[in-house]
Formats: sequence, structure tokens, C-alpha cells
Amino acid sequence: MSVNTQIKRITTNTLQEMKQRGEKISMLTAYDYSIAKIVDEAGIDAILVGDSASNVMAGHETTLPITLDQMIYHAASVVRAATRSLIVVDLPFGSYQGNSKEALNSAIRIMKESGAHAVKLEGGEEILESVARIITAGIPIMGHLGLTPQSIYKFGTYTVRAREEAEAAKLKKDAKLLEEAGCFAVVLEKIPAALAAEVTASLRIPTIGIGAGGACDGQVLVVHDMLGLNKGFKPRFLRQYLDLYGEINGAVKSYINDVKASDFPGEKEQY
Ligand code: KIV
Repeated sequence: MSVNTQIKRITTNTLQEMKQRGEKISMLTAYDYSIAKIVDEAGIDAILVGDSASNVMAGHETTLPITLDQMIYHAASVVRAATRSLIVVDLPFGSYQGNSKEALNSAIRIMKESGAHAVKLEGGEEILESVARIITAGIPIMGHLGLTPQSIYKFGTYTVRAREEAEAAKLKKDAKLLEEAGCFAVVLEKIPAALAAEVTASLRIPTIGIGAGGACDGQVLVVHDMLGLNKGFKPRFLRQYLDLYGEINGAVKSYINDVKASDFPGEKEQY
């Protein structure tokens, strides 16, 4: 299925129409102006300003430390770059769990201060009140089930989720609840492909998979991982399209050599 080049700005409705006509949805993360511009101009359908910024941009071990102000800074940079794709922003840890009024305020801050188009929240039944309240304000929500990194200290490991029947049953129920609450899509992270296929077939809204197999309506990857910027990070689900770490490392070494050898700047590189 080819990409529809007629679309100007992709909306949440566009993604739902893509599911209906069987066109796969492409999504990547971005956190800054320069990468967002490349990704957008390449024709990506949706950009996720993920709280994985906490890992790949700030060097934290988990997604927990990133703040709402920092997410807004990243999101506003992406919004300035992207003219075509739908921009979804993660609500960071601690900005929505357990208090639906705070959740609404956090979502409103992201929409108002960054200009993004939607927010993403991790969890199912336990965050339903926050989901309902945010949607009531007219803010589109993408759900996120399976491996939800904000709960890493509950899980204890980044391994595949919902292999056991009880967790799979809860995930299926949560997906339905998120759809009924009005979410426009749901991310399924690191769950068995067969379970993701079953959830995808049971929902009207699109599923976006990461480590969840090919039956999902779309796929998302962390841009640093697929470009090979994260040296040594090669989980099974990742397809690495470039070795950008190697490319940049080589370029920097060449620059150092040129400076040391007084080869840079040359005649034509000075005034
Ligand atoms: O923050 C993120 O990058 C994400 C994706 C892994 C789905 O939530």
C-alpha cells in the first residue's frame, strides 16, 4: 500500500481512516527541531515526542526523571519543524497518575505551550478517570499498553509483557476500555505478536506496535535506535537502518586529524 501524498496535515481521523483502508501507519520519535524536520519531510505519518527523551537525550537510565517542562521544551521544538505529521507527546511520569485534575492540567499545558496535537498516557483501567477527563476537554489521547516503561520498577525488567493468560486478559480488557473512553489509537509495546494481532482485530481504533509484531496497524521506533545512534542497543524487535554512531565517530576523528595536521581550515575556508 503506497503512502497518500495528497494529505496535508495528518490528523487523528486520518490514522483511523488508514486503519479502515488497511494502510499501515508509520511513526517515529523525535525530540528536537533538526531530526523532526528530516523525519517530517521524509513523509512519516506521526511523530512521538516520547518520554524516551529521558534516556536518549538526557542520559537517564529510565523515563521517570523527565519533567513536564522538559517534555514541553522538546515538543515545542518538534512542532516548529513538522508541517505534515501528527505530533503526539508523552505525559511524563507523575503528571497524570492518580489525579485526573492534575492530568487535565498537564495535558492542557502540553497542548497550549507546545502546539502539539495529542498526548499519550501509559496504562489502562487504573488511569481511565484521567483519560476521560482529558478527552472531555477535547484533547486527543493515544493509549499505551504492554511494556509501559514508566512502571519499570513494578515490572523489574524490560522483558516481553503479557505472556501469561491473566496479564493478556487484562491487556485485552484495557484496550477495549481505552477505545470506549475515546482514545484515537493505542501503542502496544513488547507483547506477543499473536496477542497484538487479536487486540488489533478487536478494535476500531488503530494499534501502533513496538516489539508487538506485524499485525499492528502501524509501527513506532525510537529514532536514535533505528538510526544506530545507541551503540550496542540491539533488541530483537529493532531494525537498524543506519550506523550513525559509526558515521559520526568517523567524521569526528577525521576532523580531529585535520585540525592536528593543520589541514583545516584550508585556503578556501578562511576570510
Ligand atoms: O517514549 C517512547 O519513545 C515511547 C515509545 C517506545 C512507544 O513511548
